[in-house]
Amino acid sequence: MADTAAPILVLNGPNLNMLGTRQPEVYGSETLDDVLDLCRRTAAEFGRAIVGFQSNSEGALIDRIHAARGAESAIVINPGGLTHTSVALRDALVIPEVPIVEVHLSNVHAREEFRHHSFVSGIATAVIAGMGIEGYAAAVRFLAARG
Ligand code: DQA
Repeated sequence: MADTAAPILVLNGPNLNMLGTRQPEVYGSETLDDVLDLCRRTAAEFGRAIVGFQSNSEGALIDRIHAARGAESAIVINPGGLTHTSVALRDALVIPEVPIVEVHLSNVHAREEFRHHSFVSGIATAVIAGMGIEGYAAAVRFLAARG
């Protein structure tokens, strides 16, 4: 278990590096840098720091989650499409033994059927969908306030 003063890890999965240009009508016009700035400012209100990591590769995300054990105090994750496909990502997320908030920019439940199931939700402390980038701020605020 990491100590609670440790940074909060903000993880983003496949295609989220394209935020701002990728289907803005679904995901909004803000970029991933905007998301991380918002997370950083929100964490700072609680005297906390964030560390951001994005990858289009499932293995790189899993390796980064392993490295969070003992190093980061909590995880905010938007797993992108891996939400709906990856048992391996779910298995990795329990390894750091920290609280996890799953975030989706869009309301996945109002979209295609295949987006309704998440392999991550069952091991998450909380799940946020449909709030756009404000969902990340809510997740950081929730985790930072927990200690
Ligand atoms: C997403 C929703 C997923 O279904 C999709 O594959 C994404 C983004 C979201 O933030 O709304 O890549 O996680």
